[in-house]
Amino acid sequence: MGLNKVLIIDFGGQYNLLIARRVRECGIYCELKSYRTSIDDIKAFNPSAIILTGGHGTIFDSNAPLASNEIFSLGIPVLGICYGLQFMMHVLGGKCKKAEKREYGRTELYINNNALFDSIPASFISWMSHGVEVESLADGFEIIAHSESCKVAAVADDKKKFYGVQFHPEVNHTEYGMKIIENFLFNIAKIKKDWLISNIKDKCIQDCKEKIKNDKVLLALSGGVDSSVVAALLQKAVGGNLICIFVDHGLLRLNEANEVMTAMQKANVNVKKIDASKIFLDALKGVSDPEKKRKIIGNEFIRVFEHEAKKIGHVKYLAQGTIYPDIVESGLGGESVTIKSHHNVGGLPSCVDFDEIIEPLKYLFKDEVRALGVALGLDKDIVSRQPFPGPGLAIRIIGDITEDKIRIVQKSDFILRDEIKKSNIAPPSQYFTALTSMRSVGVMGDERTYDYAVAIRAVDTDDFMTAKFTCLPFPLLDKISTRIVSEVKGVNRVLYDITSKPPATVEFE
Ligand code: XMP
Repeated sequence: MGLNKVLIIDFGGQYNLLIARRVRECGIYCELKSYRTSIDDIKAFNPSAIILTGGHGTIFDSNAPLASNEIFSLGIPVLGICYGLQFMMHVLGGKCKKAEKREYGRTELYINNNALFDSIPASFISWMSHGVEVESLADGFEIIAHSESCKVAAVADDKKKFYGVQFHPEVNHTEYGMKIIENFLFNIAKIKKDWLISNIKDKCIQDCKEKIKNDKVLLALSGGVDSSVVAALLQKAVGGNLICIFVDHGLLRLNEANEVMTAMQKANVNVKKIDASKIFLDALKGVSDPEKKRKIIGNEFIRVFEHEAKKIGHVKYLAQGTIYPDIVESGLGGESVTIKSHHNVGGLPSCVDFDEIIEPLKYLFKDEVRALGVALGLDKDIVSRQPFPGPGLAIRIIGDITEDKIRIVQKSDFILRDEIKKSNIAPPSQYFTALTSMRSVGVMGDERTYDYAVAIRAVDTDDFMTAKFTCLPFPLLDKISTRIVSEVKGVNRVLYDITSKPPATVEFE
């Protein structure tokens, strides 16, 4: 399938992944590649257009990151953003200098008539973040936008289809930012929208078929979105050659194991479920240190998985649910990419007899993974799930773990999820209950109680690196709290966590 492709040359700026997302949102396939990528590799990628990202470098410093000049001789449109603009001016014969005034934040921009700004008003708010500016233009370029303190806020060489913007069209703060990216991709580069879910699905299935052929592939299914989509995808691609193992460690949410198994059955995926809850709970008995809990769960997981894998013997491939942000965040510079530790469940690859890891989702963003899951026949409920940590409820029970405490978290968490579902509010990015393990005095009927306090946690975030606590409506909190204390034995108090991250983390441990 001859897809249209955009190459995003990465100079290390903080919004680079966002540029890639915006291009994909336009329905166009793109990849980020390091500025060190050779011109031969760029030619082999065969892009229809190139976007140069921002970066921390200073273009006139001796150690400034420089991409191959030859990208400007390929005869394809180029858009430089921030440092990308400065790089373009620098190598094409223009000049940059330290800006008299550093521009940072929302900045009013005044634009001229140009294809890049088609259907955009004469002035709008842009997001600036730079301390270097263009002093003189390279031949063939004209200024097409300025701000109060930046004379060269955008440039164009319409003949060669080279464009540069000092601001960041990829961030939401820039009004019409998406329109500018669309103008570049569709009006200027004339790229066809062909990265659509049906193509993504066909391409993923085809790629897996070609790679795996008649060999066997093993997958540790966690029930999370990514591994569930890998399972459904491999099932379509290689059918009976997929071996799926789902380890129930007894620390899943209420009914979760059944829900995962039902979803997989619906998608015709054959999964072997191993109920190892007793092994895990025995190993965790009396342990209250969070990091120890994580280690024990990681190790036990490997042991159980290894035991099962040994029965199968040698398999050629081990599949993992790595997605594109994992790859980009672990660095594009080097040759090899570290696998996100959450995905390899604490060192899984080294304990299983296989030749190669395959990561069928490694070029997809989360929203693309979700859409692919639906296209492959998974329920919306499964693909739109909130993230759930590998160690499960173990890190939502402060202190030592008992079956009774697991019951309390499972039931209270179910009530929270149930009420949020019924309430029609937009679900927070992540929401759950945790057992504080604090006990306090209460009164129920005429009786004094001395029971546990459950905490409600709900956060909104884009990246889980920082998060804001969600302001759930009080009437909803009232309903949830009333249900928890009346339906969950052993709880007489419900607390609402109103801390953001930082200083708190999302999980309690
Ligand atoms: P924190 O608590 O670090 O959580 O603010 C950020 C995100 O990471 C998830 N999380 C984990 N996921 N294993 C996982 O697979 C872990 O040990 C773990 N700890 C936190 C958490 O649920 C949130 O989405």
